[in-house]
Amino acid sequence: MTPDSTIDTIDDVLVVGAGAMGTQIGAAFALAGYTVTTGDLAAEALDQSRDEAQRRLRRLAEKGAFSSEEVDSALERMTYTTDSLEAARTTDFVLEAAVERIDIKRELFAALDEAAPEHVILATNSSTIPSSLLMDATARPDRVCNMHFFNPALVMNCVEVVRNPQTSDATVEAALGMVDRLGKQPVRLNKEIPGFVANRLLGALRNEALRLEADGVASYQDIDVAARTALGHPMGPFELMDLVGIDVSYLIRLSEYEQSGDPADLPHPSVQKLYEQGRYGRKNGRGWYEYTG
Ligand code: 3HC
Repeated sequence: MTPDSTIDTIDDVLVVGAGAMGTQIGAAFALAGYTVTTGDLAAEALDQSRDEAQRRLRRLAEKGAFSSEEVDSALERMTYTTDSLEAARTTDFVLEAAVERIDIKRELFAALDEAAPEHVILATNSSTIPSSLLMDATARPDRVCNMHFFNPALVMNCVEVVRNPQTSDATVEAALGMVDRLGKQPVRLNKEIPGFVANRLLGALRNEALRLEADGVASYQDIDVAARTALGHPMGPFELMDLVGIDVSYLIRLSEYEQSGDPADLPHPSVQKLYEQGRYGRKNGRGWYEYTG
């Protein structure tokens, strides 16, 4: 029988997907002492990811959250590749943070399963695609789970660890151990539900905010003010959509709808409009708000 991965045997992590999430998750792993390879098909995305990780980690040193030596050695532990499958051959743990599309993730999981040694855990950062929809693309359903980070992943302390019906206890324990080593707070889900816990809470607020805006009750700016100043949230729901990405929000809702078939889960028309206008939020300088610099 293949031995289980444990927290003591995981040193080398492969993060697949060099977007905003993959970049900061990789940087968080490197800061915690892991050797990290970030993989993406697009060389340009990898260049941007490297620059962004450097900028974010150096900022942490400037602020005194970590010493310059700690940040330098974290950066030395980070490498980048356009060949994730080659990197998977020698890794101890895979965290997939690619685009939120089930067909792409299933293809990726099947290929990663072929490439990675048998004991390696294949985790997905997805919050809407539970790993039970990916596990049968692999021959190791017991070593597949969700490990869901929040944006910005270097700052947000919560990581949801979600098992599918076949995930082994050893896999869950190893994932929880990694969250601990990252210095973050795990939230363990005993069963799958699309969106998991935190996004479902957020979704309730976001839906109400979108409804109030669409009904002309208040502007999106004022709704954000209410959330910040009356509820003490660090950001209002519209600011948060821009941070997470309008494209990400849109695809998440679409994926929820595909799973539930419930029209109430479809992306809100206002979000769809922004998506179709290419207003993706902070990442390209315009979403609900306009951003400069
Ligand atoms: N990336 C990394 N670090 C960031 C950052 C980013 N995008 N934005 C801010 N920070 C860090 C910086 O280190 C900054 O310190 P600095 O000014 O010294 O560099 C520190 O956070 C504080 O930032 P600011 O003073 O600019 O602003 P805030 O005090 O408002 O903090 C925030 C920014 C941490 C993003 C805060 O507004 C916040 O917590 N917002 C809510 C975020 C949230 O709810 N995330 C969950 C989204 S849902 C999700 O991710 C699930 C997924 O499935 C979609």
